[in-house]
Amino acid sequence: MSKAGLKRLVRPLVRKLHPYVYGEQPKIKGLIKLNTNENPYPPSPRVLAAIRAAVDGRLRLYPSPTAQALREKLAKLHDCKPENIIIGNGSDELLALATRGFVEPSPQSIVQSPKSLVQYFTPSYSLYPVLADIHGAAKNAVTLKPDFSLPGIAELKKGSGEPPEGGTPNKWDFDAALTFVTTPNAPGGRGYKTSELEKLCRAQKGVVILDEAYVDFANENAMKLALKFPHVIVARTFSKAYSLCFQRVGYFVGHHDLIAALHKIRDSYNVNGLGQAAAEATLGDLKYYRANFKKIIATREWLSRELTKLGFRVLPSQSNFILVQPPRFTSQEWQRQLRERRILVRWFNFPEVRDYLRITIGTAAEAAALVKAVREIAAAS
Ligand SMILES: Cc1ncc(COP(=O)(O)O)c(C=O)c1O
Repeated sequence: MSKAGLKRLVRPLVRKLHPYVYGEQPKIKGLIKLNTNENPYPPSPRVLAAIRAAVDGRLRLYPSPTAQALREKLAKLHDCKPENIIIGNGSDELLALATRGFVEPSPQSIVQSPKSLVQYFTPSYSLYPVLADIHGAAKNAVTLKPDFSLPGIAELKKGSGEPPEGGTPNKWDFDAALTFVTTPNAPGGRGYKTSELEKLCRAQKGVVILDEAYVDFANENAMKLALKFPHVIVARTFSKAYSLCFQRVGYFVGHHDLIAALHKIRDSYNVNGLGQAAAEATLGDLKYYRANFKKIIATREWLSRELTKLGFRVLPSQSNFILVQPPRFTSQEWQRQLRERRILVRWFNFPEVRDYLRITIGTAAEAAALVKAVREIAAAS
C-alpha cells in the first residue's frame, strides 16, 4: 500500500492531531535532569523492599482490578470511602478518562454546546488541550492574569485580555462540561488559595477537576472541595512528591457517582500490580516523604534567591519547580547552553511561556551545580 493509502487508514482527527510534547528522557548517563519535575530522592527503602517482595510467582496473576487495598488506604488518609476513589495508570490516564466520561465529542471540535467543552486556564498543563483534541471536543483556553494568578469570578464573567494565540475568545464558560484547574499551577508554580478555588467551584455547573499533581509542595490543598461539592474532583499522583513516576500511579477523589462512571469506562486492569504494591507501601512511610518535601522546598527557596541575584526573574513557586525569565539571551539559548554543560531544563514553545525556563528542583548539590553553570555561562557571554 502507498504511503498516502496508509495515511487514509488513520482517522482525520488523528492525522491532524498535535500530540503532547514530552520532556527529554536522555539516553546518556550523568546528566543533571531538571526538566520533567521528577523527584531527586529515591522511593523509601520500605517501598523498594515492597516492590522487590512482590516480584515472585504472582506476576502471572492479574492484579486487583479496582486496586482495592490501595483505595482503602487512600480512603483512610483522605477521610472518605473507597467508592470516592479511582486509581489510574498515572493521573494522566484519569484526566483522559474524565474527558471521555464527561464531555460529548463535537463534530469538527466546534463549540455547539457547553456539553462538548473542555475548559482550562493558560498557561497550565499542556496535556489538557491534547486530551480535548483526541476526544474531538471543543476547547476553551482562558488566560491567567499576567502573574499567573486566577482571575476572579467577576473578571471571568466579563472576559478580559487578549485571547491566547490560536485560542477562543477569552471568556470563561460556567457551563463547560469539564474544567481543569492546575493547582498549584504548572508550569508557573503559583499556588492558589482554597477559598479562591471554592468560589470558582461554586460558580461552575459542569465537572471541575482540581489537578493537584504538585500540592505536597504547597501551603494549602483543596481536597475538602472534592468532598464538599459533588461536581468537583481532586486529582493526585504518586509520581512527583512520592518519587514513583516509573510506576505510573495516580488517583481521583470525588463523588461516588462520578467516580463510578469512570470505573465503567477504564480498562479492567488499568493499574499494574507492582505499582499498586509500591503505592500502598508509600502510604506506610509518609514520614520519609514529608522529610523530602521539606528538603525540596528549602532547595527551591535557595535556588530562587541565587538565580534572582544572577538577574533571573523568578516566579514565586509552591511546587517542585520554578519558572524563571533569564537575562541576557533567550530562554531557548539558555536551555541549549545548560545542556552543553550537562544540565537539562525545560523550555516550552508556547506563546505565554516562551520567554521562560522551567527548572525542576533537584538535590541541593544539583541546584549548586546549576548555579555554577549559570555563572559560567553569564561570565562567558
Ligand atoms: C499538572 C500535572 N498533572 C498531571 C500530571 C501527570 O502525572 P502522572 O500521570 O505521572 O500521574 C503531570 C505530569 O507532569 C502534571 O504536570
